[in-house]
Amino acid sequence: MANFFTAPSVTAIRGRLLTFTKTPAGLGDRDSYRYLDDGLLLIRDGRIAAVGPADEVMPRLPPDTTVEHYPDGLILPGFIDTHIHFPQTQVIASYGAQLLDWLEKYTFVAEQKYADAGLAEINARFFFDELLRNGTTTAMIYGSVHPQSVEAIFAESARRGTAMIAGKAMMDRNAPVALRDTANSSYRDSKALIERWHGKSRQRYAVTPRFAITSSEAQLQAAGSLLNDYPDVYLQTHLSENLAEIAEVRRLFPGSRSYTDVYDRFGLLGPRSLFGHCLHLNEGEIQRLSESGSVAAFCPTSNLFIGSGLFDWAKLADPRRPVRLSLATDVGGGTSYSLLRTMGEAYKVLQLQCQSLPALTAFHQATRGNAEALGMEGEIGSLEVGRTADLTILDVKATPAMRHRHEACNGDLEEELFILMTMGDDRAVRATYIQGKCQHQRVEQTS
Ligand code: GUN
Ligand code: ZN
Repeated sequence: MANFFTAPSVTAIRGRLLTFTKTPAGLGDRDSYRYLDDGLLLIRDGRIAAVGPADEVMPRLPPDTTVEHYPDGLILPGFIDTHIHFPQTQVIASYGAQLLDWLEKYTFVAEQKYADAGLAEINARFFFDELLRNGTTTAMIYGSVHPQSVEAIFAESARRGTAMIAGKAMMDRNAPVALRDTANSSYRDSKALIERWHGKSRQRYAVTPRFAITSSEAQLQAAGSLLNDYPDVYLQTHLSENLAEIAEVRRLFPGSRSYTDVYDRFGLLGPRSLFGHCLHLNEGEIQRLSESGSVAAFCPTSNLFIGSGLFDWAKLADPRRPVRLSLATDVGGGTSYSLLRTMGEAYKVLQLQCQSLPALTAFHQATRGNAEALGMEGEIGSLEVGRTADLTILDVKATPAMRHRHEACNGDLEEELFILMTMGDDRAVRATYIQGKCQHQRVEQTS
């Protein structure tokens, strides 16, 4: 498959650089990040070729290198969203229903439109514009049941040069007929998409059984076969989001010990498997997620909006049997494309449980941490030589209220990050770069 994108051969970006080197141990862990007040990134063929203080790297720039300078801009690796639904751009902000009703009343209605490849193509442009406006440069994306929805995602991603993971939803029961495939057709269509896109340009495939309720045993088996046949593809699904959902899974799979066990029995757990929500797991389920290296995706705006529950970060991260964690928007159950907003809501969810989320931990998670959750830390998530130059440039003074709050900040980086995650959203994203090329520049207000 053609990669339509060409990165500029050499370019440089100057500003305040922030990148994480390890998981922060907590508040004030200065060893977990590298911050340069006046830093410079030299980018060659889309990758970071040099990084350091501007006065050191500047003399090494080839003659005539364009330097894009953001004197106040905070330059970070692009945000990574580990769970988002492409066909739900017009489901976001749908009123007054909990999960199973929300799916039936809004989601399953909206997703039927994606049978139309032309509509999928147009909405893919909107979807990518929105990701980039919010500083998100990589996402793990659910398509609709229609393979053409995933074709639209990958084609748009290849055109923009982004690294995306996506898969067609497999769903062969408990959904409107127009949204149902079969175990066989879902295997065939997923396989064709894998062959066509997985590993092409920067695209990767995720086998996507929507959740246990909408898949028969035969279909979950087909999902397991795909993972066997293509060991380097991902798996994404939903797990333990809502109490009525869990009761229904118990009814549909009486032979399984738990919701997690339903997936486990079909070989769907593992280090490349991401499970959205994970709110009501029992100890045995947590144990299995931990020992299999599976990843739980924390989707705070969605969990609050659909009224599903509070993600227990401390319990899942317990070092005695830690589950790998990630942070995600889950649009359109989630209410914002912004990882900044998502961090802010994550903080509040943890506050409600007397837990804490230091800004360093939140920003680490949305960048390097989520890259690790996807096994992509060699490519994205940090500002290191050899990494792809997917960047987001933030502005802590984006609104009058943020500027005013920042005046009381005394130059403390963690406090600045906390203002950004509490008050920031797409307005705080000054620019977004893919492979060193600016693909979003905020329209400046004239006042
Ligand atoms: N469970 C199954 N499908 C979905 C979905 O589209 N969104 C959420 N939040 N949960 C789900
Ligand atoms: Zn979801």
